[in-house]
Amino acid sequence: MYNEIDLDKIDLNLEPPMEEPARQYYFMAKCREWVRGFEQKNGRRPLACTQTFGCQMNAKDSEKLAGILQAIGYCETESEDTDLVLYNTCTVRENANTRVYGRIGYLGRLKRQKNGNMKVILCGCMMQEAHVVEKIKKSYPFVDLIFGTHNIYKLAELLEKSFSSKKMIVDVVDKAETIVEELPSERKYNFKAGVNIMYGCNNFCSYCIVPYVRGRERSRKPEDIVAEIKKLAASGITEIMLLGQNVNSYGKTLENPVHFAELLRQAEQVEGIQRIRFMTPHPKDLSDELIQVMAESKKICHHIHLPLQSGSSRLLKEMNRHYTKENYIALAEKIKKAMPEAALTTDIIVGFPGETEEDFLETLDVVRRVHFSSAYTFLYSPRSGTPAAAMPNQVPEDIAKERFDRLVAAVQEVSAEFAKQAVGRIEEVLVEEEKSDGFMTGRLKNNLLVHFPKVKSTLGSYCTVKLSESKGFYYLGEEVKDVNKNSV
Ligand code: 5AD
Ligand code: SF4
Repeated sequence: MYNEIDLDKIDLNLEPPMEEPARQYYFMAKCREWVRGFEQKNGRRPLACTQTFGCQMNAKDSEKLAGILQAIGYCETESEDTDLVLYNTCTVRENANTRVYGRIGYLGRLKRQKNGNMKVILCGCMMQEAHVVEKIKKSYPFVDLIFGTHNIYKLAELLEKSFSSKKMIVDVVDKAETIVEELPSERKYNFKAGVNIMYGCNNFCSYCIVPYVRGRERSRKPEDIVAEIKKLAASGITEIMLLGQNVNSYGKTLENPVHFAELLRQAEQVEGIQRIRFMTPHPKDLSDELIQVMAESKKICHHIHLPLQSGSSRLLKEMNRHYTKENYIALAEKIKKAMPEAALTTDIIVGFPGETEEDFLETLDVVRRVHFSSAYTFLYSPRSGTPAAAMPNQVPEDIAKERFDRLVAAVQEVSAEFAKQAVGRIEEVLVEEEKSDGFMTGRLKNNLLVHFPKVKSTLGSYCTVKLSESKGFYYLGEEVKDVNKNSV
């Protein structure tokens, strides 16, 4: 995308423009001058390693960050023993933080022992927490640059500042001043892409830190989203994933409010797009209209990730989720009635404060009744500043772990049952990976994966496979000629 603006034509003798994104292109051009100097001195381009922790939102942000680095002139590398390392962090659970601290320590040793000029950059959700920034200032003073979730678009400007400073630069803001979209992006795949439709979350589930670190809900205008999808389609992308923390409340804050179902209708019109996915709807406000649009659509994949969190109505209230066990089961049934072959996946937390054995059994009951095709299971992790962290009756770790193991076993059982139903069918997959052992990995519309020996298929193409054998949460299959295709 950055090719649209020729960085070399930007006059760096002028003052930086105040408006975005022109300002960032100006700083990209400035950083590019620095890169040229580096090249002359070292006989090579500088290398950058971007590491992403956490969710799809972070993965999408990292594509933008990598795009800026590439526009500046950095080449990508997998190795952290390099010129620039950027960690895009997650703080949704404590173990994510622990991992990041461990890795920053390792970068410090590399910087001390091997490469004193290495740039260490930290950004993302963890950096929105004041106590984290304090800890880094105190314990990891070699870090060069810290910014948060609201200003990732400023990477070039901050990096340019850091090139001429020995001090740690910290730029964390509490609120997004603006949404800056028209910047470079280095996409991980050339056949599928994520599209942000909204940022932030207003739900304040009592265990969750996301609303504190990603701010209030803001939706992008449907015309901007559709324009981006058209551009992606023109560049060869055939599958898009619409991204938001709670896509059901998409469009509420717009001047001319638009429902998510309507946005899907518009996205569906874009020629060249063959598959549409979205993440994540909230069970409390998933509309009948959305189910109808999905059921009628040939492009919207019949897979819904519908976070349950708990099957106990009492705990759901404590979690501030605004639905009951019965509401959730009724919703799942409604979805299955409209789309019998639909796959439902979910997130479940075990060990929320006050969770009793009875509460946990309610969760197991929902797992068995809803027949999820898979579930992400998490041990509750107290996040400071959230209401749940201050609740009494925190569940002892050994009890939570024992429940966790039982939950995982139940999930494996129901997901294997789900997968078994489709054995023998012939389905279309999007080929997403080519393995060195001659196998390809394709994704079904319902999000399950199939591994099959390569015959003719190529990466990013659609091909037809027979689902020969279920391996629990994936299939072994074989490529077949495009006949008698079912349509999962
Ligand atoms: N502890 C454990 N899991 C959590 N999640 C969010 N916050 C926490 C927490 N404090 C889980 C939820 C959410 C998923 C993205 O992460 O299940 O849906
Ligand atoms: Fe967190 Fe709840 Fe918002 Fe999801 S909906 S990001 S769990 S507060």
